[in-house]
Amino acid sequence: MPKVIPDETVRVKITKDKGDYYFGELVEIIKPAKERIDAPCPYFNHCGGCDYQHIKYQSQLSFKENIFFETIKRVGGLNEIPINPIIPSPEPFHYRLKAQLKTSRTGERVNLGYFKKDSHSFIPIEECIICHKKINALINVLLKLSEQNLLYHLDEIEIIYSKLTDKLLLSLSENKINKNRLENLYSIIKKRINEITGVLSLKKTKVDCVGKNFIEERVKDIDYRVTSESFFQVNYSLHELLVNQIMKLVSPRKKDNILDIYSGVGTFSLPIALKANYVYGIDESESSIRDALYNQKSNKIKNCEFLKAKAEDCLIALKNKKVTCNTVLINPPRSGCSEKVKKSIISFNPLNIIYLSCNPSTLGRDLSFFIRSGYEIKSIQPIDQFPQTYHIEALAKLEKSKQIKV
Ligand SMILES: C[S@@+](CC[C@H](N)C(=O)[O-])C[C@H]1O[C@@H](n2cnc3c(N)ncnc32)[C@H](O)[C@@H]1O
Repeated sequence: MPKVIPDETVRVKITKDKGDYYFGELVEIIKPAKERIDAPCPYFNHCGGCDYQHIKYQSQLSFKENIFFETIKRVGGLNEIPINPIIPSPEPFHYRLKAQLKTSRTGERVNLGYFKKDSHSFIPIEECIICHKKINALINVLLKLSEQNLLYHLDEIEIIYSKLTDKLLLSLSENKINKNRLENLYSIIKKRINEITGVLSLKKTKVDCVGKNFIEERVKDIDYRVTSESFFQVNYSLHELLVNQIMKLVSPRKKDNILDIYSGVGTFSLPIALKANYVYGIDESESSIRDALYNQKSNKIKNCEFLKAKAEDCLIALKNKKVTCNTVLINPPRSGCSEKVKKSIISFNPLNIIYLSCNPSTLGRDLSFFIRSGYEIKSIQPIDQFPQTYHIEALAKLEKSKQIKV
């Protein structure tokens, strides 16, 4: 049950009767667990953003380890799995470089907030303590502008912060704001918070922008441009560790060809290319591929190719072109890899498959497919990319099995 810890005695209100089980809401804690703490965020009891702020960070890690293990075992039907202890986030709070906020209106005033879990009921907030402090500074400015009727018809907003350049990018999902109003808004915000580098309005068919439409980051020795619509890992305190872990598992050699499926802005393809023979990065997002090509050029990396396509189609096309590879890196969205992608991966007969996942259920399902296809799991490393929430990231390494299956 949400916001309750195993072994606690609590009073709950039943909200749904499912026959052999119930859904409930916490009413009163009669006997708290030893892991319980007071959640530092004043919105925690209602806001749908975080799940575990009432649990000591060290204990969140132990719970996540157990949940991860149980999920992989149950969904994947896997038993003896070499799972390492979870790697904690160096920053359990203020680690997020990106905030996506909902809006609501009280008269002319625009409120910023999140939805309550599994609902569309709006919870206004004035700060979000898992987001970087600079993001909160911008939230504060936006709320003040709203009091003065300076924010008009916002639907949703997104704020991205760059640690490298100390710059903020604001995207507004809204259809009514014209370029003049956007320019006006940008200059008003700029007077209050100098770190703002661009304001965008994302309309159905086009994007208007005043200032820059991207931020820049550096991870290890690679510079990345990331435009507002492209994906980039959000926990800055784990950026370098993640790249190091991937490099260790891929361990690229000068003769290796590597497929990086779901490659984003080239986060992993580019450092891998520095050590490999050739890397193919595949992503369906136009802006991610545009950024990846830009990043490839700005980092002077030649032995890499970025392809804008659905992995489902692109892998078949590469296979038809007789492309070969010894290692495949996959980092799919929460839905995991489709059957078509998994079958195509197998058709390349790679020696290694490295899988970075943000969803233990689809990871379990996909690992089980690869095992049935002749691979064995060498290691699984959970990483706590999203402290205070239920999300668990994990990095798995599979190798082509030496045993012949009969
Ligand atoms: C979790 S992100 C990973 C990006 C990158 N590896 C990184 O760490 O920055 C998943 C990426 O998969 C892309 N994507 C989602 N479905 C896809 C598909 N069917 N084919 C190709 N790319 C897809 C998204 O555009 C997104 O960039």
